[in-house]
Amino acid sequence: MKVEQIRNFSIIAHIDHGKSTLADRLLLRAEAISLREFRDQILDDMDLERERGITIKARAVALDYTLDGQPYGLNLIDTPGHVDFHYEVSRSLAACEGALLLVDAAQGIQAQTVANFFKALEGDLVILPVLNKIDLSQARPDEVISEMETTLDIDPSEVLRVSAKEGAGVDDVLRAIVTRIPPPTGDPEKPARALIFDSVFNDFRGVVIYLRMIDGQIEPGDEIRMIKLGRSYDVAEVGVFTPTAMKPTARLSAGEVGYLIANIRTLDDVRIGDTITHRRGADGVEALPGYADPQPMVFCGLYPGNNSDFQPLREALERLSLNDSSFQFEPESSKALGLGFRCGFLGLLHMEIVQERLERESDTEVVQTAPNVTYELLRHDGAVVRIHSPEDLPPLNEIAEFREPIARANLIIPASCIGAIMKLAESRRGRYIGTEYLSEKRVIITYDLPLAEIIYDFYDKLKSGTKGYGTMDYEVTGFQAADLVKLDILVAGDRVDALSTIMHRTEADRRGRGLVKKLKEEIDRHLFEIAIQAAVGARIIARESIPPLSKHVTGKCYGGDITRKRKLWAKQKEGKKRMKSIGQVDIPQEAFMAVLAADK
Ligand code: GTP
Repeated sequence: MKVEQIRNFSIIAHIDHGKSTLADRLLLRAEAISLREFRDQILDDMDLERERGITIKARAVALDYTLDGQPYGLNLIDTPGHVDFHYEVSRSLAACEGALLLVDAAQGIQAQTVANFFKALEGDLVILPVLNKIDLSQARPDEVISEMETTLDIDPSEVLRVSAKEGAGVDDVLRAIVTRIPPPTGDPEKPARALIFDSVFNDFRGVVIYLRMIDGQIEPGDEIRMIKLGRSYDVAEVGVFTPTAMKPTARLSAGEVGYLIANIRTLDDVRIGDTITHRRGADGVEALPGYADPQPMVFCGLYPGNNSDFQPLREALERLSLNDSSFQFEPESSKALGLGFRCGFLGLLHMEIVQERLERESDTEVVQTAPNVTYELLRHDGAVVRIHSPEDLPPLNEIAEFREPIARANLIIPASCIGAIMKLAESRRGRYIGTEYLSEKRVIITYDLPLAEIIYDFYDKLKSGTKGYGTMDYEVTGFQAADLVKLDILVAGDRVDALSTIMHRTEADRRGRGLVKKLKEEIDRHLFEIAIQAAVGARIIARESIPPLSKHVTGKCYGGDITRKRKLWAKQKEGKKRMKSIGQVDIPQEAFMAVLAADK
């Protein structure tokens, strides 16, 4: 297909504003898929992905579309909406000339709407504003369009009104894609240059590279080189994604989006953002700008519930990381929990997703420790180091400066909640940046907040403080010095390493008290009294004690009924499986997450 006939675009939106539904509609309308094959949110369908043995992760789909008798090739590159996946959004956008900015006509502009809009703007994309869900009775189209004008400087006459669910306005969207988004500017005659914007691992085919051809052509049999990594491979297959399959093609040519398979064994052999060219003549070809690597900022420990499950857990983690290069793990050992792994994630949602997949895909029971952020330390000798675990913290006298990550957070909330939310942000050490009115009823307030506070409980509090209407988007902007301390927990005199946390000095008393209370609830009585203490350095700041059991539990059975006793013992043993023994004390697994719940 000629470059002038190609349109590459993305759909960007806040979560649930209808991106997948609109994508389905576009596929149906462009007859990329028949009604029989059509299932709701087809691009989201994990089962489908598994059946076909491919992961349509970045969801790049080629559609044939004819407008006024002219054939066009549309490439739809879907993006995730959540804040943790900013990185993937930027990547997808780099492969496009245009973006549909979808806004829910009832919900109006939300945090990710704004964040994604600015990402598209930075990437010099043409933005087509689309107002979705106009069929809803609670839709307020004029108000929302006016929000789009005020906040994003969008011309109201350019907004397309659509119901992705019912199909209204979808033809106008397709027409606008063709007429308002420019074709790519690449030259098929120049030496080949292609941007790798994603890659997935497939059990049968090895690594499948998603690429956007900028210049030139690539076909099977070509010897290609990845410019930055300096590796060369023979191309086995190139092609495009249809909604239900990978369709091999004779070549990929300037402007096109598709996939490439070249007998590459692991995702580590591919760097997203790298440039592919032909091996011959590679020296004269300039690499494309590419992307910065995603930096995991949230870490937690994952331990096998049962110590003998260390190896299965490692295998499960390895399998997962094959498909998700932004997820990191390395072995660590804890006195309390034994051998396990320190794992790094892009954010809390990413962490939840990984854990869920781990539990689903392996039979091992997993104990998770409370998440923490990455900290930066300036040592007296001038060296700057980053730590991912409270356990890695050297004695404070070795540190000249203790720094924590700061995130710029945009909160979109009802104007009536401004007071409450500002109070919340300030109680979480937020620094006020500004307020902007979307309309009379809704505002964006911006704060710089420590990332640790955001992952601790800020989001829950934002939701409850706005009756669910508040949304938030954040991006880590850098590190800042802070008066931080490590809070240790001692159970019966033993420090439990997996319960240590780093926090601001002013928070230590309050959280320490909350935590020992919570632990008192979580740990069962034993035959002896158990002291639970919170300490900063050598100073004990809170203490609770669990009184001893007055009698053997089996005492209740008055000797007589042995089967009842057996049952009780069996039940206790069952319970113990999910316990970790620290010295003589059994600590239930839930207690390791208590750090997060201490305030609740
Ligand atoms: P994420 O993938 O979670 O980011 O969501 P999404 O943006 O892909 O939204 P999705 O398409 O899953 O739609 C969210 C919900 O809105 C679904 O229940 C859809 O059925 C509904 N929805 C989408 N478009 C419309 C519409 O035009 N009208 C109505 N009434 N509902 C819609």
